[in-house]
Amino acid sequence: MRHILSGRQEFPSDGSSQDQLFFLLQYAICAPSVLNAQPWHFVVSDTTITINLPEGFAQPNLDPDWNYTAFTYGCVAENLKRAGRAYGLDFTISDVQASPLQVTLRLGEQRVPLAHEGDLVAITTRQSNRFPYTTEPLPEGLRSYITSLASDEHTISVVTDKDTRVRIGECVAQTTSELFKDPAVRAEVAEWKRTNSTKKKDGMPGFVMGIPKVVSYVFPWLLKKFNIGPKVAPKTLKVFADHTSDVVMINGVSSTMESWVQAGVMYQSIALEANKLGVVTSIHSAPVAVAVDELNTLFALSGVPQVLFRIGYPTQTAPHTARKSVDDVTTRI
Ligand SMILES: Cc1cc2nc3c(=O)[nH]c(=O)nc-3n(C[C@H](O)[C@H](O)[C@H](O)COP(=O)(O)O)c2cc1C
Repeated sequence: MRHILSGRQEFPSDGSSQDQLFFLLQYAICAPSVLNAQPWHFVVSDTTITINLPEGFAQPNLDPDWNYTAFTYGCVAENLKRAGRAYGLDFTISDVQASPLQVTLRLGEQRVPLAHEGDLVAITTRQSNRFPYTTEPLPEGLRSYITSLASDEHTISVVTDKDTRVRIGECVAQTTSELFKDPAVRAEVAEWKRTNSTKKKDGMPGFVMGIPKVVSYVFPWLLKKFNIGPKVAPKTLKVFADHTSDVVMINGVSSTMESWVQAGVMYQSIALEANKLGVVTSIHSAPVAVAVDELNTLFALSGVPQVLFRIGYPTQTAPHTARKSVDDVTTRI
Protein backbone atom coordinates (compact mmCIF):
# COMPACT_ATOMS: atom_id res chain seq x y z
CA MET A 1 0.00 0.00 0.00
CA ARG A 2 1.31 3.46 -0.81
CA HIS A 3 2.44 5.54 2.11
CA ILE A 4 2.36 9.33 2.45
CA LEU A 5 5.48 9.60 4.63
CA SER A 6 8.93 9.13 3.18
CA GLY A 7 11.72 8.06 5.49
CA ARG A 8 9.61 7.13 8.49
CA GLN A 9 11.59 7.20 11.72
CA GLU A 10 11.64 4.95 14.76
CA PHE A 11 9.70 6.02 17.84
CA PRO A 12 12.22 7.56 20.31
CA SER A 13 11.34 5.26 23.24
CA ASP A 14 14.34 6.50 25.24
CA GLY A 15 13.96 10.13 24.12
CA SER A 16 12.43 13.00 26.07
CA SER A 17 8.68 13.46 26.22
CA GLN A 18 9.09 16.38 23.80
CA ASP A 19 11.03 14.17 21.37
CA GLN A 20 8.15 11.71 21.46
CA LEU A 21 5.53 14.38 20.83
CA PHE A 22 7.65 15.79 18.00
CA PHE A 23 7.85 12.30 16.49
CA LEU A 24 4.06 12.03 16.46
CA LEU A 25 3.72 15.18 14.35
CA GLN A 26 4.64 13.18 11.25
CA TYR A 27 1.20 11.60 11.66
CA ALA A 28 -0.50 14.93 12.39
CA ILE A 29 0.55 16.36 9.02
CA CYS A 30 -1.12 13.54 7.08
CA ALA A 31 -4.47 15.23 7.84
CA PRO A 32 -6.65 16.61 5.03
CA SER A 33 -7.00 20.38 4.52
CA VAL A 34 -8.75 22.67 2.04
CA LEU A 35 -6.70 22.57 -1.19
CA ASN A 36 -3.90 20.88 0.79
CA ALA A 37 -2.92 24.30 2.11
CA GLN A 38 -1.81 22.72 5.43
CA PRO A 39 -2.88 25.68 7.61
CA TRP A 40 -0.95 24.52 10.68
CA HIS A 41 2.01 25.52 12.78
CA PHE A 42 2.78 23.34 15.80
CA VAL A 43 4.24 24.44 19.10
CA VAL A 44 5.50 21.46 21.10
CA SER A 45 6.33 21.37 24.80
CA ASP A 46 6.91 18.34 27.05
CA THR A 47 3.19 17.85 27.64
CA THR A 48 1.30 19.80 24.96
CA ILE A 49 0.99 20.23 21.22
CA THR A 50 -0.65 23.48 20.15
CA ILE A 51 -1.95 23.89 16.61
CA ASN A 52 -1.82 27.50 15.39
CA LEU A 53 -2.38 29.40 12.17
CA PRO A 54 0.86 29.87 10.22
CA GLU A 55 1.92 33.48 9.93
CA GLY A 56 0.08 35.27 7.13
CA PHE A 57 -2.16 32.31 6.30
CA ALA A 58 -5.68 33.12 5.12
CA GLN A 59 -8.24 31.85 2.62
CA PRO A 60 -10.59 34.84 2.86
CA ASN A 61 -12.98 33.70 0.14
CA LEU A 62 -13.08 29.99 0.88
CA ASP A 63 -12.88 30.06 4.68
CA PRO A 64 -13.72 33.56 5.93
CA ASP A 65 -14.73 32.39 9.43
CA TRP A 66 -11.96 29.79 9.86
CA ASN A 67 -14.57 27.05 10.11
CA TYR A 68 -12.82 24.68 7.71
CA THR A 69 -9.49 25.40 9.35
CA ALA A 70 -11.01 24.44 12.72
CA PHE A 71 -12.37 21.29 11.03
CA THR A 72 -8.86 20.54 9.75
CA TYR A 73 -7.45 20.93 13.27
CA GLY A 74 -9.98 18.34 14.41
CA CYS A 75 -8.61 15.95 11.75
CA VAL A 76 -5.06 16.70 12.92
CA ALA A 77 -6.10 16.08 16.54
CA GLU A 78 -7.64 12.72 15.68
CA ASN A 79 -4.45 11.63 13.88
CA LEU A 80 -2.41 12.64 16.93
CA LYS A 81 -4.74 10.87 19.32
CA ARG A 82 -4.63 7.62 17.37
CA ALA A 83 -0.88 7.77 16.66
CA GLY A 84 -0.21 8.58 20.31
CA ARG A 85 -2.34 5.65 21.44
CA ALA A 86 -0.35 3.29 19.22
CA TYR A 87 2.77 4.30 21.17
CA GLY A 88 1.17 4.35 24.62
CA LEU A 89 0.58 8.11 24.79
CA ASP A 90 -2.86 9.45 25.56
CA PHE A 91 -3.96 12.85 24.21
CA THR A 92 -7.07 14.88 24.80
CA ILE A 93 -8.10 18.19 23.27
CA SER A 94 -7.73 20.47 26.29
CA ASP A 95 -8.45 23.87 24.77
CA VAL A 96 -10.01 25.45 21.68
CA GLN A 97 -9.62 29.19 21.16
CA ALA A 98 -11.58 30.98 18.48
CA SER A 99 -9.65 34.16 17.84
CA PRO A 100 -6.96 33.61 16.82
CA LEU A 101 -7.86 30.01 16.18
CA GLN A 102 -5.79 27.65 18.32
CA VAL A 103 -6.28 24.06 19.44
CA THR A 104 -4.24 22.50 22.26
CA LEU A 105 -3.78 18.79 22.91
CA ARG A 106 -2.51 17.71 26.29
CA LEU A 107 -0.74 14.51 27.18
CA GLY A 108 -2.66 12.56 29.81
CA GLU A 109 -1.76 9.47 31.73
CA GLN A 110 0.31 7.11 29.67
CA ARG A 111 -1.14 3.71 28.96
CA VAL A 112 -0.18 0.47 27.33
CA PRO A 113 0.28 0.78 23.58
CA LEU A 114 -2.09 -1.10 21.31
CA ALA A 115 -0.33 -4.12 19.89
CA HIS A 116 -1.28 -3.48 16.26
CA GLU A 117 -0.30 -0.70 13.89
CA GLY A 118 -3.68 -0.46 12.17
CA ASP A 119 -4.24 3.21 12.96
CA LEU A 120 -0.71 4.19 11.90
CA VAL A 121 -1.15 2.50 8.54
CA ALA A 122 -4.59 4.11 8.10
CA ILE A 123 -3.30 7.59 8.96
CA THR A 124 -0.45 7.36 6.47
CA THR A 125 -2.35 5.72 3.61
CA ARG A 126 -5.66 7.65 3.81
CA GLN A 127 -6.23 10.03 0.93
CA SER A 128 -9.14 11.88 -0.61
CA ASN A 129 -10.40 9.95 -3.61
CA ARG A 130 -12.33 12.02 -6.17
CA PHE A 131 -12.71 9.24 -8.73
CA PRO A 132 -15.86 7.16 -9.34
CA TYR A 133 -16.63 4.53 -6.69
CA THR A 134 -18.26 1.15 -7.15
CA THR A 135 -21.90 0.92 -6.08
CA GLU A 136 -21.13 -1.96 -3.74
CA PRO A 137 -22.84 -1.16 -0.42
CA LEU A 138 -20.70 -0.19 2.55
CA PRO A 139 -20.10 -2.89 5.12
CA GLU A 140 -22.96 -2.71 7.63
CA GLY A 141 -20.47 -2.31 10.48
CA LEU A 142 -19.03 0.83 8.89
CA ARG A 143 -22.47 2.38 8.38
CA SER A 144 -23.38 1.78 11.99
CA TYR A 145 -19.98 3.12 13.11
CA ILE A 146 -20.71 6.35 11.19
CA THR A 147 -24.12 6.87 12.74
CA SER A 148 -22.83 5.89 16.21
CA LEU A 149 -20.71 9.07 16.21
CA ALA A 150 -23.80 11.30 16.53
CA SER A 151 -23.91 13.27 19.79
CA ASP A 152 -25.81 16.09 21.52
CA GLU A 153 -23.89 18.53 19.31
CA HIS A 154 -23.78 16.58 16.02
CA THR A 155 -26.30 14.78 13.84
CA ILE A 156 -25.34 12.50 10.98
CA SER A 157 -27.28 11.34 7.96
CA VAL A 158 -26.27 8.67 5.43
CA VAL A 159 -28.03 8.78 2.07
CA THR A 160 -28.02 5.73 -0.19
CA ASP A 161 -31.07 6.00 -2.48
CA LYS A 162 -30.42 7.05 -6.05
CA ASP A 163 -33.04 9.80 -6.33
CA THR A 164 -31.61 11.66 -3.37
CA ARG A 165 -28.04 11.09 -4.55
CA VAL A 166 -28.97 12.60 -7.91
CA ARG A 167 -30.41 15.68 -6.18
CA ILE A 168 -27.33 16.00 -3.96
CA GLY A 169 -25.17 15.80 -7.11
CA GLU A 170 -27.25 18.58 -8.70
CA CYS A 171 -26.81 20.70 -5.58
CA VAL A 172 -23.01 20.15 -5.59
CA ALA A 173 -22.76 20.95 -9.32
CA GLN A 174 -24.92 24.05 -9.08
CA THR A 175 -23.20 25.52 -6.01
CA THR A 176 -19.78 24.86 -7.55
CA SER A 177 -20.79 26.82 -10.65
CA GLU A 178 -22.20 29.62 -8.49
CA LEU A 179 -19.05 29.79 -6.37
CA PHE A 180 -16.75 29.86 -9.39
CA LYS A 181 -18.60 32.82 -10.91
CA ASP A 182 -16.59 34.95 -8.50
CA PRO A 183 -13.11 35.74 -9.91
CA ALA A 184 -11.75 36.19 -6.36
CA VAL A 185 -12.76 32.63 -5.47
CA ARG A 186 -11.22 31.31 -8.69
CA ALA A 187 -7.97 33.18 -7.99
CA GLU A 188 -7.83 31.77 -4.44
CA VAL A 189 -8.37 28.21 -5.64
CA ALA A 190 -5.92 28.58 -8.55
CA GLU A 191 -3.22 29.69 -6.11
CA TRP A 192 -3.13 26.17 -4.63
CA LYS A 193 -3.33 24.23 -7.89
CA ARG A 194 -0.08 22.54 -8.94
CA THR A 195 1.28 20.82 -12.03
CA ASN A 196 1.65 17.05 -11.96
CA SER A 197 5.44 17.38 -11.69
CA THR A 198 5.44 20.01 -8.96
CA LYS A 199 8.22 19.93 -6.36
CA LYS A 200 6.15 22.08 -4.01
CA LYS A 201 5.17 20.47 -0.73
CA ASP A 202 1.66 21.90 -0.56
CA GLY A 203 -1.31 22.44 -2.87
CA MET A 204 -3.10 20.05 -5.23
CA PRO A 205 -1.44 18.54 -8.30
CA GLY A 206 -3.79 17.88 -11.24
CA PHE A 207 -3.40 14.09 -10.92
CA VAL A 208 -5.65 13.97 -7.84
CA MET A 209 -8.51 14.96 -10.17
CA GLY A 210 -7.37 12.75 -13.04
CA ILE A 211 -5.94 15.72 -14.98
CA PRO A 212 -3.16 14.62 -17.42
CA LYS A 213 0.34 16.11 -17.06
CA VAL A 214 0.17 18.47 -20.06
CA VAL A 215 -3.21 19.86 -19.04
CA SER A 216 -1.98 20.28 -15.44
CA TYR A 217 0.35 23.02 -16.71
CA VAL A 218 -2.49 25.18 -18.01
CA PHE A 219 -5.16 24.15 -15.53
CA PRO A 220 -4.44 26.82 -12.85
CA TRP A 221 -4.61 29.51 -15.55
CA LEU A 222 -7.83 28.08 -17.04
CA LEU A 223 -9.39 27.93 -13.60
CA LYS A 224 -8.51 31.51 -12.86
CA LYS A 225 -9.70 32.81 -16.22
CA PHE A 226 -12.98 30.88 -16.70
CA ASN A 227 -15.80 29.49 -14.62
CA ILE A 228 -15.20 25.78 -15.21
CA GLY A 229 -18.13 24.91 -12.93
CA PRO A 230 -20.65 24.26 -15.72
CA LYS A 231 -18.02 22.21 -17.62
CA VAL A 232 -17.44 19.79 -14.72
CA ALA A 233 -21.14 19.60 -13.77
CA PRO A 234 -22.04 16.56 -15.95
CA LYS A 235 -19.16 14.58 -14.44
CA THR A 236 -20.28 15.50 -10.91
CA LEU A 237 -23.86 14.48 -11.67
CA LYS A 238 -22.76 11.12 -13.07
CA VAL A 239 -20.47 10.38 -10.12
CA PHE A 240 -23.28 10.97 -7.59
CA ALA A 241 -25.90 9.13 -9.65
CA ASP A 242 -23.99 6.08 -10.83
CA HIS A 243 -20.63 5.82 -9.07
CA THR A 244 -21.37 6.36 -5.39
CA SER A 245 -23.09 4.12 -2.87
CA ASP A 246 -23.30 6.40 0.18
CA VAL A 247 -23.23 10.15 0.83
CA VAL A 248 -22.76 11.36 4.40
CA MET A 249 -23.63 14.68 5.97
CA ILE A 250 -22.56 15.83 9.44
CA ASN A 251 -24.41 18.78 10.96
CA GLY A 252 -23.61 20.80 14.05
CA VAL A 253 -26.30 22.07 16.37
CA SER A 254 -24.16 25.21 16.72
CA SER A 255 -21.39 26.82 14.70
CA THR A 256 -18.85 27.29 17.48
CA MET A 257 -15.19 26.55 16.82
CA GLU A 258 -15.46 23.58 19.21
CA SER A 259 -18.27 22.22 17.07
CA TRP A 260 -16.21 22.55 13.86
CA VAL A 261 -13.17 20.95 15.51
CA GLN A 262 -15.33 18.05 16.68
CA ALA A 263 -16.80 17.63 13.17
CA GLY A 264 -13.21 17.27 11.93
CA VAL A 265 -12.52 14.64 14.60
CA MET A 266 -15.61 12.73 13.44
CA TYR A 267 -14.80 12.96 9.73
CA GLN A 268 -11.23 11.80 10.28
CA SER A 269 -12.39 8.92 12.49
CA ILE A 270 -14.71 7.79 9.70
CA ALA A 271 -12.06 8.21 7.00
CA LEU A 272 -9.55 6.18 9.02
CA GLU A 273 -11.97 3.39 9.95
CA ALA A 274 -13.07 3.31 6.28
CA ASN A 275 -9.46 3.09 5.13
CA LYS A 276 -8.94 -0.04 7.23
CA LEU A 277 -11.72 -1.68 5.19
CA GLY A 278 -10.45 -0.49 1.80
CA VAL A 279 -13.13 2.24 1.66
CA VAL A 280 -12.31 5.83 0.60
CA THR A 281 -13.91 9.27 1.05
CA SER A 282 -14.16 12.58 -0.80
CA ILE A 283 -15.37 15.90 0.67
CA HIS A 284 -17.56 18.23 -1.41
CA SER A 285 -17.62 21.55 0.38
CA ALA A 286 -19.20 23.85 -2.25
CA PRO A 287 -22.82 23.55 -0.98
CA VAL A 288 -22.05 23.49 2.75
CA ALA A 289 -22.15 27.21 3.48
CA VAL A 290 -24.51 28.36 0.72
CA ALA A 291 -27.22 25.69 0.35
CA VAL A 292 -28.10 25.11 4.00
CA ASP A 293 -31.86 24.68 3.58
CA GLU A 294 -31.56 22.47 0.52
CA LEU A 295 -28.98 20.21 2.18
CA ASN A 296 -31.05 19.96 5.33
CA THR A 297 -34.06 18.90 3.28
CA LEU A 298 -32.08 16.35 1.26
CA PHE A 299 -30.47 14.78 4.32
CA ALA A 300 -33.49 15.26 6.62
CA LEU A 301 -31.36 17.18 9.13
CA SER A 302 -31.50 20.55 10.83
CA GLY A 303 -28.79 22.86 12.13
CA VAL A 304 -25.46 23.77 10.53
CA PRO A 305 -24.13 21.62 7.67
CA GLN A 306 -20.42 21.08 8.35
CA VAL A 307 -19.24 18.36 6.01
CA LEU A 308 -20.68 16.46 3.07
CA PHE A 309 -18.73 13.54 1.64
CA ARG A 310 -19.00 10.56 -0.64
CA ILE A 311 -17.81 7.26 0.79
CA GLY A 312 -17.30 3.97 -1.01
CA TYR A 313 -15.02 1.43 -2.66
CA PRO A 314 -12.54 3.02 -5.09
CA THR A 315 -12.23 2.14 -8.77
CA GLN A 316 -8.86 3.89 -9.10
CA THR A 317 -6.38 5.85 -7.00
CA ALA A 318 -3.88 8.67 -7.52
CA PRO A 319 -0.52 9.34 -5.84
CA HIS A 320 -0.63 11.11 -2.49
CA THR A 321 -0.45 14.88 -2.23
CA ALA A 322 2.79 16.15 -0.65
CA ARG A 323 3.30 17.59 2.82
CA LYS A 324 5.72 20.17 4.19
CA SER A 325 8.18 18.59 6.60
CA VAL A 326 7.47 18.55 10.34
CA ASP A 327 10.63 20.62 10.89
CA ASP A 328 9.26 23.34 8.63
CA VAL A 329 6.01 23.68 10.56
CA THR A 330 7.08 23.22 14.18
CA THR A 331 8.54 25.25 17.01
CA ARG A 332 9.88 23.40 20.07
CA ILE A 333 9.71 25.21 23.42
C1 LIG B 1 -12.71 21.22 5.20
C2 LIG B 1 -12.28 20.55 3.93
C3 LIG B 1 -12.96 20.82 2.75
C4 LIG B 1 -12.59 20.18 1.56
N1 LIG B 1 -13.33 20.43 0.42
C5 LIG B 1 -13.02 19.77 -0.72
C6 LIG B 1 -13.80 19.97 -1.89
O1 LIG B 1 -14.77 20.73 -1.91
N2 LIG B 1 -13.45 19.31 -3.02
C7 LIG B 1 -12.37 18.45 -3.05
O2 LIG B 1 -12.10 17.87 -4.09
N3 LIG B 1 -11.62 18.23 -1.93
C8 LIG B 1 -11.91 18.86 -0.78
N4 LIG B 1 -11.17 18.63 0.35
C9 LIG B 1 -10.07 17.65 0.33
C10 LIG B 1 -8.70 18.34 0.23
O3 LIG B 1 -8.53 18.88 -1.06
C11 LIG B 1 -7.60 17.31 0.56
O4 LIG B 1 -7.75 16.96 1.91
C12 LIG B 1 -6.21 17.83 0.33
O5 LIG B 1 -5.97 18.08 -1.03
C13 LIG B 1 -5.15 16.85 0.85
O6 LIG B 1 -5.27 15.62 0.20
P1 LIG B 1 -5.56 14.25 0.96
O7 LIG B 1 -6.88 14.38 1.66
O8 LIG B 1 -5.60 13.22 -0.14
O9 LIG B 1 -4.45 14.00 1.94
C14 LIG B 1 -11.51 19.27 1.56
C15 LIG B 1 -10.81 19.01 2.74
C16 LIG B 1 -11.19 19.63 3.92
C17 LIG B 1 -10.44 19.33 5.20
